[in-house]
Amino acid sequence: MKERNGLRGTSEAHRDVPATENGGPFRGGWADTALKSPPLPGAAYAAKRRSAVSERFPGERIVVPSGGLKVRSNDFDHPFRPHSAYVHLTAEEGSSAVPDSVLVFEPTGGSHAVTLFTRPRSPRDGGPNGTEFHGDRRYGEFWTGRRRTLPETADALGVEVAARDDLDRALRGNVPTRVLRFEDSYVDARVPPSPQADAELVVFLSELRLVKDAWEIGQLDGAVDCTVAGFHDVVGELRHATRLERGERWIEGTFNRRARLGGHSLGFDTIAAAGAHACVLHWMRNDGPVRDGDLLLLDAGVEADSFYTGDLTRTLPVDGRFTDTQRRVYDLVHAAQSAGIAALRPGARYGDFHTAAMRVIAEGLDAWGLRPYGASAATAESDLYRRYTVCGSGHMLGLDCHDCAGARGETYLDGVLEAGHVLTVEPGLYFQPDDLTVPEELRGIGVRIEDDFVITDDGAVCLSSELPRDADEVEAWMAALR
Ligand code: GLY
Ligand code: MN
Ligand code: MN
Repeated sequence: MKERNGLRGTSEAHRDVPATENGGPFRGGWADTALKSPPLPGAAYAAKRRSAVSERFPGERIVVPSGGLKVRSNDFDHPFRPHSAYVHLTAEEGSSAVPDSVLVFEPTGGSHAVTLFTRPRSPRDGGPNGTEFHGDRRYGEFWTGRRRTLPETADALGVEVAARDDLDRALRGNVPTRVLRFEDSYVDARVPPSPQADAELVVFLSELRLVKDAWEIGQLDGAVDCTVAGFHDVVGELRHATRLERGERWIEGTFNRRARLGGHSLGFDTIAAAGAHACVLHWMRNDGPVRDGDLLLLDAGVEADSFYTGDLTRTLPVDGRFTDTQRRVYDLVHAAQSAGIAALRPGARYGDFHTAAMRVIAEGLDAWGLRPYGASAATAESDLYRRYTVCGSGHMLGLDCHDCAGARGETYLDGVLEAGHVLTVEPGLYFQPDDLTVPEELRGIGVRIEDDFVITDDGAVCLSSELPRDADEVEAWMAALR
């Protein structure tokens, strides 16, 4: 901030107002602005998930914090994003989420009483938090905006609600307790760790998210639709991006604008990788130029207000037409992705789609005569092709982009696909610019194609089918938008 009114710099200009004993200039004169909060649409589904937690852990206290604010620099925080397990059990949404909230399942008889401990509104005057409203830049409503009242939160989420300040009371007593750790330092300090019990809770909460219910699938569908809109925006801006020194940043900003407009935020930082940057799997620096003749790999996802996210990748010829070599690589990745998609069905092993995709890649590379180590061909049996593919061909998708990461091998990576699983299929080929094992014309080409799928009772549905996928369709789409 420039010098203004005699104050210099943001910390001077925005320093917290000193606390006043009696409310000072803020005392009295405030209207009652309580609202009637309709139940959030996901609340009924969250109630069922809480019942599942209750059934799994009878007689035990279960504590699931939302997490809190994290400092970005000095007196500014990163935007708040609650833990996905907390979101799953509350259906809390977007900017209504309140840092330092804690969901407590208290055993009662054969079941649990569930209470959400959260921050009430900042009182305008008086009371123990009388100066928070104007004096607390992290939580005061003068600084950060209106929160819901506790009754409003109870109505919106359909849970009992109490003030966070009363949490201590809820954690007392000699009750076996499991905590989702490392999200709330107060809770962690207050409840002695039970490493095995706490680890089991992580696994359970992660596996509870494997099969998505109808509402979650609707949310993912919406997040993917908005992500598709962001890809359209980017194609419309590609020509302009070629005129800028850091065109990748323009691409990133273009997509991110759509994410903020149509959703809550991003599921992950946008990957806008032009030219050889496409060979870096998570190129998020996005500080390079976007040049005609190169490919642009855009891997991006809009996170909806419900916090469910899309995750799509397209690799686009910047000037609208693939070169013969680019198209050869693109077509092979496209064929691999198609083989992976064809392997999606309930009852298939989770690993099958990856194996199917990699078989196409390996055989394709072999047909090109690509023999990275002399006699050893890159076949499906030898895994040398991994030099050019590196990672798996997909992952579960949901509240986290890489969803359900705490699930056990037998329920996820070594498990079987079930109706309601939502996952990505995203094979790629990445020929590093300095890889002497490939012909020069391939060096610096990276291609990934990624779509999002729901497993159904008899197959799979692509949530992102509106986004052109094969090379001809991509060129036609780009020609129409440029
Ligand atoms: N966007 C990260 C991934 O596709 O896994
Ligand atoms: Mn992905
Ligand atoms: Mn992705």
